[in-house]
Amino acid sequence: MRVFDTVITGGTVVTASDSVVADVGIAGGKIAAVGLDLEGAEKIDARGKYLLPGGIDVHTHLDMPFMGATTADDFESGTTAAACGGTTSIIDFAIQVKGDPLSRALDTWHEKAGGKSMIDYAFHMICTDLNDQRLKEMDKLVDGGIPTFKLFMAYPGIFMLDDASIFRAMLQTRDNGGMICMHCENGGVIDVLVQRAKAGGHKEPKWHALTRPMTAEAEATRRAIALAEMAGVPMYVVHLSAGDAMDEIRAARERGLPMYAETCPQYLFLSYDDYERPGFDGAKYVMSPPLRPKGNEERLWRGLATNSLQVVSTDHCSFCMKVEGGKPGKELGKEDFSKIPNGAPGIETRLLLLYDGGVNGGRISLNRFVDVTSTAPAKLFGLYPRKGAIQPGSDADIVVWDPKKKHTIAAKTCHMKVDYNPYEGRKVTGAPEWVFLRGKALVKGGKLAGKAGSGEFVKRKPRSS
Ligand code: URP
Ligand code: ZN
Ligand code: ZN
Repeated sequence: MRVFDTVITGGTVVTASDSVVADVGIAGGKIAAVGLDLEGAEKIDARGKYLLPGGIDVHTHLDMPFMGATTADDFESGTTAAACGGTTSIIDFAIQVKGDPLSRALDTWHEKAGGKSMIDYAFHMICTDLNDQRLKEMDKLVDGGIPTFKLFMAYPGIFMLDDASIFRAMLQTRDNGGMICMHCENGGVIDVLVQRAKAGGHKEPKWHALTRPMTAEAEATRRAIALAEMAGVPMYVVHLSAGDAMDEIRAARERGLPMYAETCPQYLFLSYDDYERPGFDGAKYVMSPPLRPKGNEERLWRGLATNSLQVVSTDHCSFCMKVEGGKPGKELGKEDFSKIPNGAPGIETRLLLLYDGGVNGGRISLNRFVDVTSTAPAKLFGLYPRKGAIQPGSDADIVVWDPKKKHTIAAKTCHMKVDYNPYEGRKVTGAPEWVFLRGKALVKGGKLAGKAGSGEFVKRKPRSS
């Protein structure tokens, strides 16, 4: 009888489509067998637990300079936190400096991640400045395992591209087989609203949300879909927050267009009310698009359940409230809401929140939970079946999930290097007990066991769904 390196015995293997009690045999870092009565040199008893494919977070910003600050988490702390929360792969965004070749951005992000990342990682490319030469460089990136490009319709003067540049990038991407990731907000309209609010003497964090209306997101989403349809390119809308924007995606999909979208836990669990917290606390929730009025989140949950939304990522972009280790934080915007660095932490808490609010809350099934946190992102972003699956031949990225474990979310006990948590004090049930990356335990019995640098760069293929 074959003896595997490790066998996880008696757990319920949960995939995007099925749940079945089985042993999982691991050999050479790969899943070698899913069956009954498997023998292993090491055995881990998972009776009463779920075996999930490792979480895949396709939207993170680690070691990212933005709005005069740099994110609190680098690849070491960010991926350590991710592992503790059951995520074994991330796709982070390399950012083209205007005027630079795309390859320089990629080199910079390889330097940031190499030797530091605890989990496997890949990159998207944020394109900020595209001439004919740069457009050709996009083809090279696709060949080199970076088949996705984020473009911005917001942040004029920083990231925003005009419609003609977006359209050119879309045509190039149609031809090279990649996919466009789009930040959909009407940057011009928002800029006018921000200037008017400031001229009216408004300074508080809530004005961030009041100057970025739902319609600015829905209009940009509609325009992006029209541009992508004319170009004949697949598009994935990132960090979708507004139910009205989701309706645009749904309508496009019903017309048979290859349009996809993710939402993030912050849009499912938080709301505009968080901007009304006393003092400067609303700054903790300043992100773009902003949190929406209560009621919007139930539209997103329904969209997740019915496949108008395909993925839940985090858009992890952590800035401390206070200056930390010389790094300025949200305080930069104390006197001016438009200077608050945009972004919030979440890489560690995605599965905890989604399992509790989604599965325990009766809003999505256990299999759908696996789909939106692992399998669908793997397929859409060219990682499947190496990642996102529990089947022979896949990487042994496995989370042993204890559905009964109770946990209270708190900044103090998290591994993210940020001085607050947007969900502070929230009680959840269900947490990772063991987390394996290519057969190595990063988390053992709920305790961190991994080392920085165990993650590898993963070259991705164009999407496979
Ligand atoms: O507020 C956000 N989302 N910060 C990160 C940058 C982006 O647009 O994803
Ligand atoms: Zn964005
Ligand atoms: Zn982002």
